[in-house]
Amino acid sequence: MDNRPIGIFDSGLGGLTAVREILQIMPHEQVVYFGDTGRVPYGTRSRETIIKYARQDIAFLLSKQVKIVIAACGTVSSVAAGLGQEIPVLYTGVVEPTALAASLATRNQRVGVIGTSATIQSGSYRRALNALNLDIQVFEQDCPLFVPLVEHGFSRKDDPVPRLVAERYLAPLKEHGIDTLIMGCTHYPILRDIIAQIMGKDVTLIDSGRETASFASEMLRSQNALCDETQTAAYSFFVSDRVEGFSKAASVFLEQNIVQDVQYINIDAFAKDP
Ligand code: DGL
Repeated sequence: MDNRPIGIFDSGLGGLTAVREILQIMPHEQVVYFGDTGRVPYGTRSRETIIKYARQDIAFLLSKQVKIVIAACGTVSSVAAGLGQEIPVLYTGVVEPTALAASLATRNQRVGVIGTSATIQSGSYRRALNALNLDIQVFEQDCPLFVPLVEHGFSRKDDPVPRLVAERYLAPLKEHGIDTLIMGCTHYPILRDIIAQIMGKDVTLIDSGRETASFASEMLRSQNALCDETQTAAYSFFVSDRVEGFSKAASVFLEQNIVQDVQYINIDAFAKDP
């Protein structure tokens, strides 16, 4: 048994897709969340910058004595896959758990992947899918406008702005006849209703945040590191820029008022080196 908190980070709101699942499947755990809102987006940056930012994010979470670090960010998981080896606690990114779920879901072995430009350029999901099953054909599409849309609150399913953008990005994937689509950036499930309507009911959507939360739960269980079930859940959220925008959007997404639980931190005070 381990009552230390679970640490989760992302460049902004996207990692909340993992938090939402943790609320359901590990309701007694304490969670420390860091959203790097001062430096979002990560997905258009160089490998060196993404690694530097991710090391600082991890250093911050370690300063909170977490028992596991969840890189709830497709971009970090794709570009900086080795970071888990640098730290003394459990670690998972999103790519392997998500690829596994997609490989089990596909029936026609045609899987689409949407992600940030850095994620798609890295080929991480393609490699992970083909390591599981060489027969899977992978069709990839980067969707660089999705993260700014979500961060600026353009995510309601009746909003024509994200719908138009999504129609443009998803059209080629529809033509490829995929039956499974990996939402390989943790921000994208926030646009799930729009993506689902465009892709149609025959395409299974795989949510990288949700799959990674379940994977982390199994990791903790297998290490006997889940918390005591009498523990009361507690959530603290930290951001690297104004707290207001994040608090509002996060409260809507998590369907609970977390405004009092969000604090600013100076992420530059945390080490960039392993
Ligand atoms: N949510 C992140 C991801 O999964 C980061 C997106 C970004 O900052 O560009 O890729």
